[in-house]
Amino acid sequence: MTRHVAALIRHAVDQLPESLVILDVHGNVAFLNQKATEMDSAATMNARTHLNLGFASNRWTSDVKSVLDHLRTSNRSSLTTTARDSKSGRIFRSTFSLLQDASGCHIGTVILTKEIAAPRYVGFAAGDCRADLETLSRRLGGLLVECLETLSDVLESREPYTLGHSLRVRDLAVAMARERWGASMDLAAVSLAGQLHDIGKVAVSPDILTKPGRLTDEEWSIIRTHPVVGESIMQPVARLGEIAKAVRHHHERFDGSGYPDHLAGNAIPALARILAIADSYDSMTSVRPYREAISPSEAINEIQANAGVLYDPDWVRVFLKLMRRNKSE
Ligand SMILES: [Fe+2]
Ligand SMILES: [Fe+2]
Repeated sequence: MTRHVAALIRHAVDQLPESLVILDVHGNVAFLNQKATEMDSAATMNARTHLNLGFASNRWTSDVKSVLDHLRTSNRSSLTTTARDSKSGRIFRSTFSLLQDASGCHIGTVILTKEIAAPRYVGFAAGDCRADLETLSRRLGGLLVECLETLSDVLESREPYTLGHSLRVRDLAVAMARERWGASMDLAAVSLAGQLHDIGKVAVSPDILTKPGRLTDEEWSIIRTHPVVGESIMQPVARLGEIAKAVRHHHERFDGSGYPDHLAGNAIPALARILAIADSYDSMTSVRPYREAISPSEAINEIQANAGVLYDPDWVRVFLKLMRRNKSE
């Protein structure tokens, strides 16, 4: 090879967009092109221990020895590894190829490394994965909500005393929220919380739910588990978190006398404070196996009398305004 040709080759490898490192048969660095020299401190490192392949950053290392060992012990002539610089987010792909002489003897290794993705692209790629997961999670969440709505319908159909209760609570809660927050607000959470607030009753025996006459203390304690059971049914879907909390606390009372956590005042989630009024109103005006219904005006008076005691006074005002308007229409 003439000096001219050698110089030509040297220029050619120096102008490669990839970093080129050639190791001898012992794994020591024998040659680096310009790109590798610029970007790496590998010239001073022994490939048998650690070769810094973070050509741009010097921050991450790859155990080259283990790659070389794997390459020699497998029947493969090349191996490709990908590594990411955790600080810069840059991704590098290195191809390790065995160098053989004319008789097939191993005489060294060539490592070609290039950056395969800029941080911006990595961001998009990660975003795409997130988007896929979010879509999947939304679909699964949607399916679970549909199952819960069906379950709620089935639950009510086995208990004639509460037939339509959840939908009436839903409609009243949504009307109250719309009255206070305006029609432009997204009221989907209010609607779903209203419809599913008693879903935990699925764990209560129909014998108890439909028992005529007075319930025993033990039977009441079983019924009182339904808010916690309801919350636990919804917990697997992260986006139902706010609704699950409303379900858990819909029997809390403003003065702290409710259950399950005896929360008081604004410590009770707003959705639960709305549900408490809508649920009480519908329960009072519906026949239950253990008592007769009272009239709508009696129920309204009852709720008004308990503003600030059992119910949030601000939401009671909204409720009264709504009821007055409905009456005059
Ligand atoms: Fe309830
Ligand atoms: Fe209820």
